[in-house]
Amino acid sequence: MATMPEAGANMNELLGGRDLHPAGVDLAREQASSLARPRMRYTLAARFFFWSMDLVYGKTITLPKVKLIEVLARIPYHAWEIRGYWNLTFQYHDAGKRATALELVELGRISQDNEFWHLVMVMEKIREDRVRESKFWHYFLPLLIAFSYAVFARLLAVVHLRSSYYFNAMFEDHAEHEYARFVKEHPELDQQPAQSEWAAAYAPGSTWGDVFRRVSLDERVHRNESLIKCGREGQVAPYADPVKAG
Ligand SMILES: [Fe+2]
Ligand SMILES: [Fe+2]
Repeated sequence: MATMPEAGANMNELLGGRDLHPAGVDLAREQASSLARPRMRYTLAARFFFWSMDLVYGKTITLPKVKLIEVLARIPYHAWEIRGYWNLTFQYHDAGKRATALELVELGRISQDNEFWHLVMVMEKIREDRVRESKFWHYFLPLLIAFSYAVFARLLAVVHLRSSYYFNAMFEDHAEHEYARFVKEHPELDQQPAQSEWAAAYAPGSTWGDVFRRVSLDERVHRNESLIKCGREGQVAPYADPVKAG
């Protein structure tokens, strides 16, 4: 379980030194580029998955729906981490396979940490806004969906890891667009400073608009990493600012 970060703690330090984005990245410009970029062509399975979420929580993107996305987002990375360790059990004597498995374990770990922070940000905003949540719809049901998704993700990571990467790329692409839309549909977020200690640790000195823009951009990184893992480098979405992309 994560401990409370010290006030002003750097998010990159909390994530083991991993720098998710270049310094000075223009979050508003990146949000515009997410909105302008068409969504990936989702497979039937992915479309069914997103349709199910809409069925339960509605098409409108709300904080409880964002919370569901984040409860689910960590799951495939955990499945990859387990798969990586499983591979190590059998392939530890092969230097090349060992390195590949360790790389998968590391990606799984740091991505899970990052997704956990997203969940914390949503929970902080829900708490701040005093959003009323029902025990069934907003706690029990997400857990039930998470359990089903965990079974699916674990199976896919065992049976066909490449498909697991691709499914996750679609999940992350969907999340990136949903967050970009959420900020667009709620301009009041840009007038609300994110003052909680947790928010200050994730995105120091930001408004809630920029917190969610940053989350959206994190999802783009996750999307791109998943696409690279399944050999689809051509679909990687770069930063809008070419200088930052370098
Ligand atoms: Fe996320
Ligand atoms: Fe993500």
